[in-house]
Amino acid sequence: MNTIINDIEIVKTENSKINDVDFDNLKFGSVFSDHMLECNFKDGKWQMPKVIPYSSIALDPSAKIFHYGQSVFEGMKAYKDANDDVFLFRPLDNFNRLNISSKRLAIPELPENYFMEGLKALLKVDDAWIPTNEGSSLYIRPFVFASGQGFHASPADEYKFLICTAPSGSYFSGKVKVLIEETYSRSANGGVGFAKAGGNYAGQFYPTQLAIEKGYQQVIWTDDNAHEYIEEAGAMNIFVRINDTLVTGPTSDRILDGITRKSIIAIAEEKGITVEVRKITVKEVVEAAKSGALKEMFGAGTAAVISPIAGFGYKDEDFDLPELEDTYASYLKKRITDIQTNKSEDPFGWRVKL
Ligand code: PLP
Ligand code: COI
Repeated sequence: MNTIINDIEIVKTENSKINDVDFDNLKFGSVFSDHMLECNFKDGKWQMPKVIPYSSIALDPSAKIFHYGQSVFEGMKAYKDANDDVFLFRPLDNFNRLNISSKRLAIPELPENYFMEGLKALLKVDDAWIPTNEGSSLYIRPFVFASGQGFHASPADEYKFLICTAPSGSYFSGKVKVLIEETYSRSANGGVGFAKAGGNYAGQFYPTQLAIEKGYQQVIWTDDNAHEYIEEAGAMNIFVRINDTLVTGPTSDRILDGITRKSIIAIAEEKGITVEVRKITVKEVVEAAKSGALKEMFGAGTAAVISPIAGFGYKDEDFDLPELEDTYASYLKKRITDIQTNKSEDPFGWRVKL
């Protein structure tokens, strides 16, 4: 029987898959919860969203997503505490960034209530899918793509906005080694690097495959001009600790304005750590690694949380980072996850209880 939550129609599955899931051994983003949110753009406007059973979708072969890659996405997480209360972290920032991405890709922007109320209704229906194990959470993937038809290279007239969710464990397994890129570029001035456009990730796969063949997990992108400055990694922003100063690059139209990144800056400053937001040259990181001033490097992102980097490669040379006892990365990771999972106060007002 269909029900309504906050004006949103719910069609429940009759075949829940939840009993097939091993919640003690969750990978990242590989099993999907029973339901999804679907919202269609047609006749010039977004239609009411609906929660429906998770299922395949049919698209015309001429749908513009296939030919021109008109698609954007977000990444968020829902956390459940010991009392079974459910929390989101800065969800309006994800909503706003989705629309920033959409605008750049000529995709119609979504109304806030369709996103927020749709997400809340979906999480209510799939509440049992939100893991409680330490280090696990429900990864949320909102995305919008061109479902409208035609080979004309112009924006589609129909779109789909879906939200799917996946109970997930950590993004990386084992030590993370990165390769500082010297040849390929992820983004360029005036391009779409700041948007979470699907094509930004497709363009990274080949250079990342080359890096994986050499024994690294991710590429650290450098500026497209001279490959002189460290920008960000494939799925996370980058921080380096030089002596006791934490440094991260400024955002620009080439770099994703990460929600974890800006939260880390605030948490580090709260702790009294000196934070510099400035351009970081590859040269200074290599020199700091050689002199011993480079204490830590870590990536920050929703999926990756805070992932310490064990070493990096540059121009056929490998540099290992020291294995310190008390790292900024471990402090910052605990502080941010305690806020996200309702284990501590949230002086910043980031946590949203459902
Ligand atoms: N940079 C890129 C390219 C990403 O894909 C992500 C992940 O979303 C991030 C940075 C981190 O952003 P956030 O902290 O908002 O998840
Ligand atoms: C996220 O951290 O949510 C992301 O979107 C990264 C993704 C490419 C796995």
